[in-house]
Formats: sequence, structure tokens, C-alpha cells
Amino acid sequence: MKNFILIIVIFLIIIGLAITNSSKNLLSNDSKDKITQPQPTTTNNKSINVAKFDNENNLIRPENYREWVFVGSSLGLNYQQNLVDPSQITEQFYHNTYIYPDAYHEFSRTGKFPEGTMLILEILTQEKKKEPSLQGSYEKDVIAIEASVKNSKRFKDGWAYFSFDKEGGGFLTKAKAFESKSCFDCHDKKAETDHVFTQFYPVLRSAKASIK
Ligand code: HEC
Repeated sequence: MKNFILIIVIFLIIIGLAITNSSKNLLSNDSKDKITQPQPTTTNNKSINVAKFDNENNLIRPENYREWVFVGSSLGLNYQQNLVDPSQITEQFYHNTYIYPDAYHEFSRTGKFPEGTMLILEILTQEKKKEPSLQGSYEKDVIAIEASVKNSKRFKDGWAYFSFDKEGGGFLTKAKAFESKSCFDCHDKKAETDHVFTQFYPVLRSAKASIK
């Protein structure tokens, strides 16, 4: 009889252990799922493949850059050798900047712009009050589309600059990199992060600040 009770007790202990173990497994599977879900898909030193060039090293204008990440806009922002008296300024333009999403994700992760990063600067006219009770101004016509691309294999300075503006209006479908250093030099001297004016873009400022 004693033996019988002992066998029953051992049997119950084994069953008890088995149950606790399987519920632990269930729990850990559950928490594993929670951890794995939001993992970013980027890898180290990812290089971005968005800028398309023809055989003559012309950059093809991307059609859908407005679907990229919009990082910020400015009004009348400009570095001037001689400061202009504000009352003399008759026309100011809006600037909108977009970055290719994969480059944005990589920048948010590492604080660095990966090879292949491309940004677009769109310049628009400022439209003022057209109705008696309407205040302020808004963006009207696109008058310039410019691009920057980071590609150290193709361009000796690392970054190259392009304008798709056509003489007499309209936009080119492709453009050559500026040979003169005028674009590069200002970006090199004044831009906060690797030739990009992150100091003026709220979206890139907070991406940079949140890197651990
Ligand atoms: C005197 C300074 C200066 C020069 C020269 C200059 N830029 Fe910029 N650029 C800026 C500033 C400031 C911004 C910040 C965005 C803005 O204008 O709102 C900017 C932003 C840009 C951007 C958006 C990405 C970024 O780097 O922040 C592109 C693309 C760009 N410029 C292209 C050009 C091209 C092409 C040229 C030459 C034709 C040029 N820039 C010359 C000052 C300059």
C-alpha cells in the first residue's frame, strides 16, 4: 500500500512538472514573437540603389520622389554674402526636401547617410492672399527640382549635385552632375551632417537625436 501511494505521488509530481514546462514554452514562444516582430530589415553598411544613371553619367530624374520621406520645408532660406535688408525682399520661395525612404531608415538607425543616398530639393513660388479673409501664404508652382547623390565610386568628392531645371521653363528628364564646386562647397562648409543640411530638417533632427 505504501509503495502504491509513493508511485501515485511520483506520478503526480511528473505530471505537474510536465504541465509547468509546457506552459513556460507557450509563454516564451509568445514573448519571442513580440520581440521579433518590429525588427528593422536593414543590415550593416547597407548601400542604397535608387539613383539611376544613363551611359553618359546623367542622373535620371525620379518620377515619384513625392512618395519619399518629406524631411522639412523652409521659406526664403539662403546663405548670402551680403545680407539683404528684409524690407527690400520682394519674393521668397518655399523649399521642400525629400529623402529616399531606405536612406532615411538607415540614417535613423546609424546617424550616417549610406552610399547611394539621394535627396531632392523642390523650390516653389509663394502665393499670398487671394481672398479677402485669407491670411498667410502657400506653395504654388514648382520652379526648380535639384538633387544630391552620395556615390563615392562614381564621384570623387563623394556627393554630386544636379539640377533638372530647363532653360525657359519645364524640367529635364536627366541631368549631368555640376562640375564646378559651387554647390559642393557650400554643402561641405555649412551643412551639419555629411553635406546634408540636417539642421534645417525637423524629421532628420529628431531621427538623429533618437539614436541610442
Ligand atoms: C550658399 C549655399 C548653398 C549652395 C551654393 C547650394 N546649396 Fe543646396 N542647400 C543649401 C541649404 C541652406 C539647403 C537647406 C535646405 C533649404 O534650402 O531649405 C540646401 C539643400 C539642398 C538639397 C537638399 C538636401 C540637402 O543637402 O540638404 C539639395 C538636393 C541641394 N541643396 C542641391 C543643391 C545644388 C544642385 C546646388 C548647386 C546648383 C546647391 N544645392 C548649392 C545651401 C546651398
